[in-house]
Amino acid sequence: MSQISDIKNRSVEVLFSSSEIHARVNALAQEIAAQMGEDLLIAAVLKGSFVFAADLIRAMHQAGMKPQIDFITLSSYKSGTESSGTVELKRDISDEIEGRQVLLVDDILESGRTIAFGKRALLERGAADVKLCVLLDKPGKRKTDIDAEFVGFQCDDKFVVGYGLDYAHYFRELPYIGVVEGT
Ligand code: IMP
Ligand code: MG
Repeated sequence: MSQISDIKNRSVEVLFSSSEIHARVNALAQEIAAQMGEDLLIAAVLKGSFVFAADLIRAMHQAGMKPQIDFITLSSYKSGTESSGTVELKRDISDEIEGRQVLLVDDILESGRTIAFGKRALLERGAADVKLCVLLDKPGKRKTDIDAEFVGFQCDDKFVVGYGLDYAHYFRELPYIGVVEGT
């Protein structure tokens, strides 16, 4: 058995429970509604942010917003827990973004390379304004001069999984966020 298929059977220590995440996502949607305009386009970074983005847009509905949503696929991790340092655009946004107010949504802000690359790509395509929303912020690992306007939780420098976040594409289905035993 390979090491990775071994890891998927390990237990996960909960850092943020499903109900904590739910409450924070609702509060975040209220913050966004208070600060961003009506004609908002959400650009969700795949794959990691799909669970967060799906909950966030429904919380935005509760907050009275009517956002549009599109997806951009960016990749900086090869596999496991090591960042490759370079970001690749694997699937571009398909909606018209010229002159739009865009909220770029990602799972984690770590070095900042992924979101900085994504923000630059959206601005190059003519977005009028790009604001950043991340579920987790690991400020201890920042390698770029970038911060998110909207942050779910501050997170220690641990490799976390669940709620869309993966370890080698495992653990995305967990309804909570946690640390894999022994990593
Ligand atoms: P950055 O480019 O270093 O900011 O890394 C951000 C990207 O790396 C995110 O979009 C995540 O997909 C991934 N990532 C960073 N930390 C973790 C983690 O703890 N668990 C899972 N994925 C992570
Ligand atoms: Mg990612």
